[in-house]
Amino acid sequence: MNNQKNNPRRDFLKTSALVTGGLMMPFSMPGAFAAGSDVIKLAVIGCGGRGTGAVFQAFETGHNIQLVAMADAFRDRIDKSYEPIFNKYGKDKVNVPEDRKFVGFDGYKEAMKDADVVILASPPGFRPAHFEEAVRQGKQIFMEKPVATDAIGIRRVLAAAEEAKRKKLNVVVGLQRHYQSNYRETIKRIQDGAIGDIVAGQVYWNDGGVWVNPRKPEQTEMEYQMRNWYYFNWLCGDHITEQHVHNIDVANWVKGGYPVKAEGTGGRTIRTGKDHGEIFDHHSITFTYADGSTIFSECRHFPGAHNRVDETFQGTKGKVYLSAGNHGVITDRSGNEIYTHNRENNPNPYQVEHDELFAAISKGEYKFADAENGAKSTMTSILGRYATYSGKVITWDEALNSNIDLMPERLAWDAMPKLLPNADGFYPHAIPGKTKVI
Ligand SMILES: NC(=O)c1ccc[n+]([C@@H]2O[C@H](COP(=O)([O-])OP(=O)(O)OC[C@H]3O[C@@H](n4cnc5c(N)ncnc54)[C@H](O)[C@@H]3O)[C@@H](O)[C@H]2O)c1
Repeated sequence: MNNQKNNPRRDFLKTSALVTGGLMMPFSMPGAFAAGSDVIKLAVIGCGGRGTGAVFQAFETGHNIQLVAMADAFRDRIDKSYEPIFNKYGKDKVNVPEDRKFVGFDGYKEAMKDADVVILASPPGFRPAHFEEAVRQGKQIFMEKPVATDAIGIRRVLAAAEEAKRKKLNVVVGLQRHYQSNYRETIKRIQDGAIGDIVAGQVYWNDGGVWVNPRKPEQTEMEYQMRNWYYFNWLCGDHITEQHVHNIDVANWVKGGYPVKAEGTGGRTIRTGKDHGEIFDHHSITFTYADGSTIFSECRHFPGAHNRVDETFQGTKGKVYLSAGNHGVITDRSGNEIYTHNRENNPNPYQVEHDELFAAISKGEYKFADAENGAKSTMTSILGRYATYSGKVITWDEALNSNIDLMPERLAWDAMPKLLPNADGFYPHAIPGKTKVI
């Protein structure tokens, strides 16, 4: 399943750029927007911070967009999202009457029906189901990263990605470094051989961590886990997948493939409370690629400790430093600068990904097929988690074929997730050396 096995590095790099950088030659796509004047109808699935932000960004593209439906597990999240969107864009652009506000686990199916474009921004555990349905209904898609939380979900996304390509549906994944000019410009030079073959690299997401939504007495177990989703793997995938996927994805982009195996260590040092579910607060992994080169990946959530979110790589002829703060610096082996990205002209990549997607849609072009890379980079982060949770060396193929299913048997407020707290209210978590992941 690893495409490095059959493709020489540079072939992969070219293919990868085509599908993730928006460089694909446009195809003629007959459809509602061919004339460029029709309204593009939008639905948002998952109306939290990112779903709401993505709706703003869609409107800010300046195309003739109308929000027609919203879906969320919780009514209060729809209301909190709707209000600022309506206040800013008004009734002509925000046409979401009560009967097109869908609450619960299944609302996404109905919400998509009236839309041309869907934004998928729920917690990632639901993404495979939401993406499959969007493809089935033939929608243009913006979906947030990560795209799944276990290998079963990844396989579903990969299959739906093939179907999306067959149907020529544009799919943009919110790995927005692919839409950020310092990454695009610098990595293009790496692909053109500026530092030779990449022999090693280090990618980091080390910071103080994220929000916690403590348990409320009236909540069922399902509601509690859904509200506090970051700390449960069926919903989040652990912070290595939810957050560090961005940096791991850059490693795959620069390497031009996906790792063949991973080994590592991780655990829970600081975040050990009842509301911290099962996820680790640190992971350190060595990913080995098909050519024998290794990328070291580290992510941790330790408040007050040193923060670092960036990527560095060493090649046979030089080095490169990249960060979301618009850096892109290439040096030769002696440290002499070969290229420095101009930091002045860097549009917000969250806006660029929507600008480019909606431009293609409005012209009736098929330009974006990000889902396969989104799935394989998400899979790389899951491979890392499998390695740290199990304490074993895990191969890509073993990981991708894992049949350990994190999703609950049934999705309902009175249904039970698979992971439950003990009598003291603490959740079991992985123990390296004991935990099985495949
Ligand atoms: N690209 C980026 O830089 C970036 C930044 C932030 C978040 N994200 C991603 O966006 C996604 C959402 O993150 P967020 O920060 O907006 O979280 P959030 O908690 O603010 O929003 C998630 C929303 O989804 C809703 N939801 C839960 N289950 C649902 C279901 N089955 N159907 C419909 N809605 C459901 C929740 O109630 C909530 O309103 C995550 O995958 C996250 O990783 C990406």
